[in-house]
Amino acid sequence: MFKSFVVLSVLAAPVLSQTAVSLLIDFAGYQSSGTINLRSTLNNVSTKKGQTFHFGSTYDTGVSTASWTKNVFSTFFNHIVAENGCKWDATEPSRGTSSLTECLAVQSYATSCSASFRGHNTFWHAQTPSWLPGSITASDLVNNVIPQHVQQEIQGMGTSVTSWDVVNEIVGDGVSNGMFTLKSALQCVQNKKDWPTQTSDGSNTALVTDLSFVHAAFSTALKYAASNTRLAINDYNTGANDAKTACVLAVLADINQNAGVPYNRLAVGFQTHISTSGFPSKAALTANFAKLAALGANAMITELDISLPSTSSANERLQAAIWGDILDACLYASNCNEFINWDTRDDQSWIGTAGAGTLFDSNGNPKPAAFEVQARMQRFASGAPMLCATALGTGSCMASGPTGGSSTTAGGTTTTHTTTTPVTSPSGCLSPLYGQCGGTGWTGCTGCASGSTCQVSNPYYSQCLA
Ligand SMILES: *[C@@H]1O[C@H](CO)[C@@H](O)[C@H](O)[C@H]1NC(C)=O
Repeated sequence: MFKSFVVLSVLAAPVLSQTAVSLLIDFAGYQSSGTINLRSTLNNVSTKKGQTFHFGSTYDTGVSTASWTKNVFSTFFNHIVAENGCKWDATEPSRGTSSLTECLAVQSYATSCSASFRGHNTFWHAQTPSWLPGSITASDLVNNVIPQHVQQEIQGMGTSVTSWDVVNEIVGDGVSNGMFTLKSALQCVQNKKDWPTQTSDGSNTALVTDLSFVHAAFSTALKYAASNTRLAINDYNTGANDAKTACVLAVLADINQNAGVPYNRLAVGFQTHISTSGFPSKAALTANFAKLAALGANAMITELDISLPSTSSANERLQAAIWGDILDACLYASNCNEFINWDTRDDQSWIGTAGAGTLFDSNGNPKPAAFEVQARMQRFASGAPMLCATALGTGSCMASGPTGGSSTTAGGTTTTHTTTTPVTSPSGCLSPLYGQCGGTGWTGCTGCASGSTCQVSNPYYSQCLA
């Protein structure tokens, strides 16, 4: 925990121009092209977990690719969240008027796809109806407005909702400046500097000066939600070993103590809007999920997308490695049963087509990440142990083939795997395209598969490039 040591480590680490990664889909036992039917794999995952594994994406009515969308929710995903249809502006357009038409339409669409449905969200400072924040007082908001909205939405959507984001994005970002100073739950929320701890008129005036608005939302949700519906706080830029994540856990503890919600009803939603250059490590996610499991609370990946600087094959492979690592963290955690990918395809993603942050490309074809997701699930369902963190690159993590499967990546030599122990890289062998082939400390293959040559990127890293 000494900062000087951290700095030295950073200086000593090689700066990679491109992280080459090893993936399960490099092995012949796993599918890497064609169309994917994930439903039976998802059933196998649920059997292995002993509880339904909900793997989903977003939906709003009126999508332009209706038949593609219907197919993907009937064969690939088994879980749906409304991108916009259940937010406050859609569900209470005027005070006291419950308007669940859009939210219910998404829920019945899920039913028509034999998919489950998750609720997002009952409180958020954004996408509020025009009558909010208005001139409503703090006590009116806490005692009337929030309880009424949470009750009418949760009651109105019925008992089959897997989980609700009861409050969305209430923790501030600036808290990471105080990296090693744990903030109180109230400080964490006040640091958000948004309605309702501040008024939304830009005057910086405090409106609600405590966490009563959070308690009001949660105690109402506890009263009206079904007993098997998890009640979540949902936020972005969380999951790493950092101050914002510590803040989310502090707020969760406060809700448990002061709103009287048992931990076995609570969940933390990790939105996980990330990029190939900034993402939480598999180890940190695993540790944070375990902290929640020890309390009895659930962890959920609620809004995953991984944006790319450009859509090169190498970037898509790194995206697949990160996707696989985050999925693994959830699959192998006893308390993670919901995993939502935010938007179904690149041309419909909120981050824009160029970010290429989803599992399916702009033509609706599965990307390497979609195949890798299937492979990770199959590996988990088979009872194999968790893979190393593939996103760290081939220098520290090589994927392993399935039992009985074969690797075709080593220059035409086919190796049949009889165990699932990691594949080692004997010298004299050939690295695959984009694989590492040299650099200070490198002990793996120094040759390259046919069609590629070993090129020096920097003293620490050489890579097989076409
Ligand atoms: C599901 O599990 C069964 C039994 O282990 C297996 O035969 C089948 O291939 C699995 N299906 C998929 C799609 O992985």
